[in-house]
Amino acid sequence: MNFDPSGSQPACQIILATLSEVDRAFSDLKRDMNPDFVHVFLDKMQRYATKPDRALFLARYQNVFIAFSTIIKSSPAPENSDKTTIQLFKNYASVTGLMVLPEFRNQGVASKIVERWEEWTYQNQLAGIWLVTRQMADWYQRCFHFSVHGSTIQHGVKKTILSKAL
Ligand SMILES: CC(C)(COP(=O)(O)OP(=O)(O)OC[C@H]1O[C@@H](n2cnc3c(N)ncnc32)[C@H](O)[C@@H]1OP(=O)(O)O)[C@@H](O)C(=O)NCCC(=O)NCCS
Repeated sequence: MNFDPSGSQPACQIILATLSEVDRAFSDLKRDMNPDFVHVFLDKMQRYATKPDRALFLARYQNVFIAFSTIIKSSPAPENSDKTTIQLFKNYASVTGLMVLPEFRNQGVASKIVERWEEWTYQNQLAGIWLVTRQMADWYQRCFHFSVHGSTIQHGVKKTILSKAL
């Protein structure tokens, strides 16, 4: 689905969610989640919308939630990280989720969310952002200038650690 081509509706809006948005967002977004883990997803959205050290970003288009992302002020560095990484990531925000509903992809929604990560990180006086991804390392490097910081094994799956100093 494309955003309103006539331009009479604003394109999607990114909001910093509160608990009042979570139930509706869960209902709009859960169809793209593994059905076995939807309860984990709901719990995560509730925690990120309420705890002061983290944020839940939601993208809304015509009153429907079409994307989410979660970010936290400080999360322990991945297991087996060296001392330098552990020290560096203490002062970095950590992105722990990003998903855009399939029919809204490739229209700049994730790019708008990434801008909000950076604003939030600045506002929280943190020096950068790190995240772990299984498949999207090239994308983060190409589109958002993240750098590879190493790799880690999570639940038996090799993932890339990426970071970006701000
Ligand atoms: C990855 C994802 C978040 C991208 O969201 P999106 O809203 O489509 O991204 P954007 O429209 O902002 O795209 C930004 C750029 O990335 C490109 N792009 C989008 N999806 C891509 C993909 N899967 N592979 C490579 N490039 C991609 C776009 O073409 C665009 O490039 P351009 O600026 O040169 O035109 C979305 O596809 C998604 O939710 N995927 C499933 C979950 C996931 O992989 N999450 C991230 C992993 S941690």
